[in-house]
Amino acid sequence: MDIETIRYLLSPEGATLLDTAASLSGSLLQRLTTLRKHYPAHLSSAAVETLELRKRAEKKFARAHQMFFTREALEQSSGQVVSGYRAERYAEGSCVLDIACGIGGDTIELAKRCRVVAVDSDPVRIIMAQHNASVYGVSGNVRFLCLDAESIDLSADAAFIDPSRRVEGRRTINLLEISPSVNFIHRLHNTIPNTGVKLSPMMDDANLQSLGGGLEFISESGECKEAVVWYGALCRAPLSATSLPSRATISPHGDVEAPIRPPGSFIYEPDPCIIRAHLVDELATGLGAWKIDPSIAYLSSNARVENPLWRGYAVEDSLPFNVKHLARRLRGLDIGRVIVKKRGVPFEPAQIEKRLSGAGTREAVLILTRIDKRPWAFICTPI
Ligand SMILES: C[S@@+](CC[C@H](N)C(=O)[O-])C[C@H]1O[C@@H](n2cnc3c(N)ncnc32)[C@H](O)[C@@H]1O
Repeated sequence: MDIETIRYLLSPEGATLLDTAASLSGSLLQRLTTLRKHYPAHLSSAAVETLELRKRAEKKFARAHQMFFTREALEQSSGQVVSGYRAERYAEGSCVLDIACGIGGDTIELAKRCRVVAVDSDPVRIIMAQHNASVYGVSGNVRFLCLDAESIDLSADAAFIDPSRRVEGRRTINLLEISPSVNFIHRLHNTIPNTGVKLSPMMDDANLQSLGGGLEFISESGECKEAVVWYGALCRAPLSATSLPSRATISPHGDVEAPIRPPGSFIYEPDPCIIRAHLVDELATGLGAWKIDPSIAYLSSNARVENPLWRGYAVEDSLPFNVKHLARRLRGLDIGRVIVKKRGVPFEPAQIEKRLSGAGTREAVLILTRIDKRPWAFICTPI
């Protein structure tokens, strides 16, 4: 989308076009054909795409239906749950530089409590961010600057940066390819000590640790979404893992090693943020569980413990992995449909699910893993 198009869509005529587009039904081609009778092709496409992106953005933003996005900017944006959680680290009323603000996902949450200077080098995104901030009624707290962040004067109480991790449209996990650059990030936290940096959890440990701050892995609804490097007063621990929306969090306290024992009557699957932060042993010892194999991230215990940092399963049966034996056992338990979860074994879940589906009336979770190099299966019910 170019500047003229976003300006048009934001005008009263653009609002009419969007309303007309929203009132149409039929296939994409049919809707575009109808719109093109009254509007130029590029405006018709932009309106239809905006409506589609708004729908997709509902997972991230409560007011998505009024906001503007480009496809890539939406993919790159922070959703409200994560950005709201992060924003709470910033002192109320303080002045925060939000660098590489995109369409304003982080700006909006920061501006609910702080005065924000939001910077991005992309003029279309800046226009969208301005509008999106007004949708949330926080524009009065934000000054938008369309500039290369590497050229601005770095002065504020605190800063947040979400650098672009794309090169010519493809995602990168190479710290040397992010923009603004890694050198800029060092200059930023050296100048403004209270800084937070959002990065990909796919980046390797050496890269993330090379930045020198406290590292937090954040998951939302069972997916590890980001690695955040915190500096200065924003840093609460050298390493932590946090699960949203519960906000349950852990950090290591010395070298902890969970015991390794045979499986008990419950299997626990740590949240992905725990696994990514290498805090499986801490979680196990903190919750009275043990490992069933030194290299496998499934935990076990004989107690039913509900905790947002793991998902628990009551074990109905535990047996060496063998499709024939499993099929017989599932029939015996009246289980006709299984959902396969696996760790440390090369099986294809969809194939196993298909092979083991039968006439039984119950559903179960089949956890496939390895214990002492032996493929193993647990027939379970989620708790
Ligand atoms: C991951 S997106 C930011 C998403 C944003 N936090 C949100 O929630 O919507 C990264 C942004 O960095 C911007 N960017 C990349 N290099 C920049 C630079 N040197 N100066 C300013 N902005 C830059 C891109 O235009 C892009 O919008």
